[in-house]
Amino acid sequence: MILQYIKNVYITFSDSGHQHPRVKTGSALAKAGLKKIVLKKVMSSLKRTPTLPPGTKPLDNQVAGHQNTDGKIGCLLHEDGTVLKPVQYPPKGQREVEFYQEVFADQMSDDKVLLQLRDLVPKFHGMVHSPKESDARFMKLENLLLDMKHPCVLDIKMGRKTYDPLASQEKIAMEIAKFPPAKNIGYQISGMQTYSPSTGKAQKFDKYFCKNLNEESIVFQGFGKFFSLDGVLQKEVIKAVIVGLKEILEWFNKQRTFHFYASSILIVFDGDASSPLSFRTSTSSSGLKGSVAENCCNGDTDSIIENDFSNVISSDFVDTMTYSQSEAVNPKVQVRMIDFAHVYHMPEEDENYIFGLKHLIDDLHRLLKS
Ligand SMILES: Nc1ncnc2c1ncn2[C@@H]1O[C@H](COP(=O)(O)OP(=O)(O)OP(=O)(O)O)[C@@H](O)[C@H]1O
Ligand SMILES: [Mg+2]
Repeated sequence: MILQYIKNVYITFSDSGHQHPRVKTGSALAKAGLKKIVLKKVMSSLKRTPTLPPGTKPLDNQVAGHQNTDGKIGCLLHEDGTVLKPVQYPPKGQREVEFYQEVFADQMSDDKVLLQLRDLVPKFHGMVHSPKESDARFMKLENLLLDMKHPCVLDIKMGRKTYDPLASQEKIAMEIAKFPPAKNIGYQISGMQTYSPSTGKAQKFDKYFCKNLNEESIVFQGFGKFFSLDGVLQKEVIKAVIVGLKEILEWFNKQRTFHFYASSILIVFDGDASSPLSFRTSTSSSGLKGSVAENCCNGDTDSIIENDFSNVISSDFVDTMTYSQSEAVNPKVQVRMIDFAHVYHMPEEDENYIFGLKHLIDDLHRLLKS
């Protein structure tokens, strides 16, 4: 039935005189190309739009990763202010779920280093599933953009190697080709969003913009653009970001539990000129020291409590949820690790990640001095 439909549409389409601009009539190659384009169009028109879980909408300010297009669900914003990240196909998705569950296990771990990690990643509020899409499960995460008026968002993928130990030769080649300079600098930009106070408009820079950067332009054109508001470099924001990155580095220097491949650091600041700079510091529970700290908030992980969301979402939508009361203060600069689909237990230093982190900190210092 569907095949017949595709055939009919193809015939209609090819009879309509519509031609791809670069197609030379009569060429077998061009015909095959046209057929492919037509089939692609038809297939994507056949894809139904998935039903989103109740009380959610696509996350507007998502800058990288799987997006809400072509019948797929990307990150969602829930009306309670959290982000729902869809669980990817196995084993990626399950790996990320298990990572969050290990880090935020109810039973307080006596592993101090593991506990400190809670402050460097979005808070995890449990798993939820959509009642309408039986196979759709989500991780309920702290929204790092919460209460920001005009969020400027930067996703930096970390590591010289962004392929994990189980990657096929094909996958390795694909990952290297995405951004060859990563081998030398140990990081790459996956996507970003800037804001212009004079026009009141946000602008997104996608993976194609980022792919065209090189070791030098990533600093002065990439980060230079991201940290500027109407051409003025926000040096205080860069300083706060460096402090956040150093906290992450401090943790990596101690930990011997995980290796993170293709994981990102998400950097966010509010482009709203009227808002004073503040920076979320680490918590007393973790033992890490807070740093740039005007109006800082205290992410007290000890105070994670069970919360009843029944007035917000239907009960069958909820597996388990916990809610931290810690996000009471409006943080204006966020530096947090995200995306744990390729995290492996390894009892050694993660030198792949550390190399990139040190390079990134040095590059931001260079930008500060420019
Ligand atoms: N907790 C969060 N708060 C705000 N924005 C987020 C959060 N988590 C993710 N995002 C947004 O979504 C984007 C994609 O997130 P992420 O990297 O976790 O997903 P992905 O790359 O699609 O995942 P995967 O590699 O597992 O397929 C980020 O670049 C960021 O813009
Ligand atoms: Mg990602």
